[in-house]
Amino acid sequence: MEYKNKHVLAPMVRVGTLPFRLLAAQYGADITYGEEIIDHKMIKCDRHINEYLGTTDFVERGTENVVFRTCPEERNRVVFQMGTSNAVRALTAAQLVSKDVAAIDINMGCPKSFSISGGMGAALLSKPELIHDIITTLKRNLDNTITCKIRLLKSSEDTVELARRIEKAGVSALAVHGRRVPDRPRDPAKWDEIADVVAALSIPVIANGDVFEYEDFERIKGATCVMVARGALWNASIFSPSKSSWEDVKREYVRQCILWDNDVKSTKHTLKEMIAHYSSLELAEGKAVIKSANTENVARIYGEEDYYLQVSMNRS
Ligand code: FNR
Repeated sequence: MEYKNKHVLAPMVRVGTLPFRLLAAQYGADITYGEEIIDHKMIKCDRHINEYLGTTDFVERGTENVVFRTCPEERNRVVFQMGTSNAVRALTAAQLVSKDVAAIDINMGCPKSFSISGGMGAALLSKPELIHDIITTLKRNLDNTITCKIRLLKSSEDTVELARRIEKAGVSALAVHGRRVPDRPRDPAKWDEIADVVAALSIPVIANGDVFEYEDFERIKGATCVMVARGALWNASIFSPSKSSWEDVKREYVRQCILWDNDVKSTKHTLKEMIAHYSSLELAEGKAVIKSANTENVARIYGEEDYYLQVSMNRS
């Protein structure tokens, strides 16, 4: 995996499934992260080749629950992001997907209580020995690129010190979300503190936070790569120099969801996030999405029922 001037789709829970990653790549994303998947969940999965769709699926044993779906088209740019607090468990989970993804990333920034109470996400930021253990275990046993994603610590000096330790442990790149753990999404990202990390490390740094327009990829320069979450969620064509309309992007997303048989819960969640940003869930479109029971219902809302039928017929 090369990290030079790359535009990166950030990991986003319930959003970053295969259709959204392919959508972002279609508009120009060079590297696309999957949603965070917890190691406990991953190790309960079996790997299945889905000949029907042309995908590789990781399905929870004894269920039909697809925990992670990928396809050969994204093999060289997809990053499998994991939540973990244990090196052996992380390795067991990573070994399952290692042949199917370009890189494995450890989430060290999630501030949610579920992550913290399990010793995962931002809880790792105060455990440099455990970080070292996880990274070195993955590096020793896998051929994949290994990276991690952190948030800023209390002071820039503390962040730089941790970043140096992470670099020493052997990651190929470090993503830095320019907010501290207690910060809210509306608090501005501190690009200057990301720049301090860039200046201190020799490995590539992936800068993340408050990229809302294509031009921001240039404004945040200094970092080797730039990662975007909400800007892409609201309009995935942010990766293209010529932005497409929100309506067009939404329809294209729905078509990708039909094509790759996305879990309707993820499709609805992503559409709801888009609608809530630009419009209101109280209006007809939002209400119809909330009411949808399956992908066919969603297809009808966006005038894609013919496409849905065509894809279904081709598969049968
Ligand atoms: C996130 N974020 C996130 N981070 C992460 O490391 N793993 C994850 O699974 C998620 N999930 C997630 C879902 C959604 C809906 C959002 C909006 C965000 C955080 C995200 O990757 C990013 O670090 C922050 O959103 C900051 O970037 P932006 O939004 O300012 O570009």
